[in-house]
Amino acid sequence: MKLLELYAKLKTDLQVIERELELVVSSNHRLLSDASLHLLKAGGKRLRPAFVLLSGKFGDYRLDRLKRVAVPLELIHMASLVHDDVIDNAETRRGKLTVKSKWDNRIAMYTGDYIYGKALVMVTELNQPEIHRVLSAAVLQMTIGEMEQIRDFFNVSQSVRHYLKRIRRKTALLIAVSCQLGAIAADSDREHALRLYRFGYNVGMAFQIRDDVLDICGTEKQIGKPPGSDITQGNITLPVLLALQDPDIADELREEIATIRELGPAADITRTIRLIRGSRGITRSEQLADRYIDKAIAALDGLPGISAKQHLTDIARFVAKRNF
Ligand code: IPE
Ligand code: IPE
Ligand code: MG
Ligand code: MG
Repeated sequence: MKLLELYAKLKTDLQVIERELELVVSSNHRLLSDASLHLLKAGGKRLRPAFVLLSGKFGDYRLDRLKRVAVPLELIHMASLVHDDVIDNAETRRGKLTVKSKWDNRIAMYTGDYIYGKALVMVTELNQPEIHRVLSAAVLQMTIGEMEQIRDFFNVSQSVRHYLKRIRRKTALLIAVSCQLGAIAADSDREHALRLYRFGYNVGMAFQIRDDVLDICGTEKQIGKPPGSDITQGNITLPVLLALQDPDIADELREEIATIRELGPAADITRTIRLIRGSRGITRSEQLADRYIDKAIAALDGLPGISAKQHLTDIARFVAKRNF
């Protein structure tokens, strides 16, 4: 199934979210507005708002409340991308120039902060301190995850467990919290919110693993940036770690990575990519992503059989197979 078909039933409500996003980042500060709108208009899957809305279906679904969670969640995600592209020195995102390359690093730092600020303004309009607490804790964890990624650059001896812990922080928690907070904002059952959190967490893990596989196996057209960006940057992801477990290629791969580290962005990564693509690291990563998706779907078990449940299941399946 395509993402558009998956979103079909949410279309009208997602359009409301989209308009709201545009409205929120527009301000009389021209540069901050322009830079934020540039990223917003470049597209994106809007996965987090979709999860907020669908989770809200398990309670008292009121769009005027849910949008105050859905919009901030997408904004926090966007802010983290603007900052991430500074750290990763990325030229393109969503097929367009990154804020840091269209403007510069300083502007990107403030644009990220600005978008974060807008998220806070909106979410605090909801008088539910639990929502503020959960969201702030998730943002803290994301920051730690991104910092750990910097610390672990080019570390080929890190364990798979270590990698999983990192992506839990940098990606899975925000997706988990999107589901949880959708449920909480809709005053749904505690038990439901917890199940939805578990669903989101497992989808989030699969989502980042898929992202990491795509970075190696995808085309520039699919992923909106040159493939192999992670390797160039020194971000050692699951497919690489698993490829390094193959004694037939481990030494060569380790040497290739050491060379990339020495040469920096000028390094030719063709051979490295070919080695990883041809290794069992790819299929084994895909299998692990599938296992997270199974767990995500299992977490929905105790929820009422409303159509949102099937919808979440379909999106989860899409995530593990997505090509963009
Ligand atoms: C990209 O997230 C960063 C990760 C957490 C892997 P998305 O793939 O959700 O980005 P957009 O919003 O669709 O561009
Ligand atoms: C996700 O990691 C970034 C955040 C969670 C902020 P990536 O670095 O893999 O994301 P992309 O690939 O640049 O979109
Ligand atoms: Mg990045
Ligand atoms: Mg990536």
